Amino acid sequence: MTVPNKPSRAAWLQGPSARCETVPNGQFLPWRIVLLGAPGVGKGTQADLLNQRLLACHLSTGDVFRAAATQGEGEQTPAMKEALGYMRRGELVPDATVWDMVRERGECLHCAGGFILDGFPRTLTQAVSLKQFLDQDGLGLTAVVNYELPASEIVARLGGRRTCEKCKAVYHITERPSKVEGHCDRCDGVLFQREDDKPESIKVRLEAYDRSTAPLIEFYRKAGLLLQVSAAGTPAEIYDRTVADLEMRRLSQFAERMWAAAENRRSGL
Ligand code: AP5
Repeated sequence: MTVPNKPSRAAWLQGPSARCETVPNGQFLPWRIVLLGAPGVGKGTQADLLNQRLLACHLSTGDVFRAAATQGEGEQTPAMKEALGYMRRGELVPDATVWDMVRERGECLHCAGGFILDGFPRTLTQAVSLKQFLDQDGLGLTAVVNYELPASEIVARLGGRRTCEKCKAVYHITERPSKVEGHCDRCDGVLFQREDDKPESIKVRLEAYDRSTAPLIEFYRKAGLLLQVSAAGTPAEIYDRTVADLEMRRLSQFAERMWAAAENRRSGL
């Protein structure tokens, strides 16, 4: 599987004053997807692969915080400095801070190419805020994919992860190594280990997931949006499973719309 360069996602990573280099063409039914799953299950890896196929932009809240962390201290707002402290310890950033940041980037949720949200929403409060925001403009979600994997495998994935400091591409020291050790295949940027991938932070993150994020599974199941996908196997295998489930979902949504349009015509609406 070849992975071309990732779009710059400037408006998402740097905020609304920045402009993306390329804006995807409008699509008839843009994909609007949420990826759920424990830290390290492989959401970012899959979002990156799905972006190549579905063209929808990969919007990760963790990436926004990490992009802010690379700015000088003087450029960070007090709320962002506080948020980075939570992140380093592996704790969730408070809902209000996260929502302010996402709302500020609301244009990205209106993008004609659609979106793949990774790491957001992470609490019921965030999920409700997202729903209200999207409902205002009739932007329904296509699906919510929940990746599942035993905890022992998750810890091994997190411990071996390396991330490119420039383009944020993700590698694993044994499972997905870069061609040249320590350097990114795409942009030659230096690979680093995330601060929150140290054992003490991993434990806190997994606990936060069980407490705050796992209840979202029920929220989206009740909304009829949930797709459960096993995250076992290679990234390519997981990707194939995800795309197959998403295509099925889209087909049934399309059929429902056609049916509703035909009903409206019949009843003269
Ligand atoms: P965030 O960046 O969202 O981290 P996360 O959810 O903890 O998820 P990760 O990025 O750690 O894992 P992933 O599932 O994307 O896995 P990946 O593809 O990298 O958030 C970080 C922090 O920011 C949070 O802890 C919190 O403090 C804060 N934050 C962010 N959003 C927030 C929000 N909404 N509310 C509150 N706080 C928020 O894969 C992991 C590794 O496994 C990689 O090395 C990869 O190469 C490897 N791998 C992937 N797939 C496979 C495979 N199939 N086989 C073998 N290896 C694989």
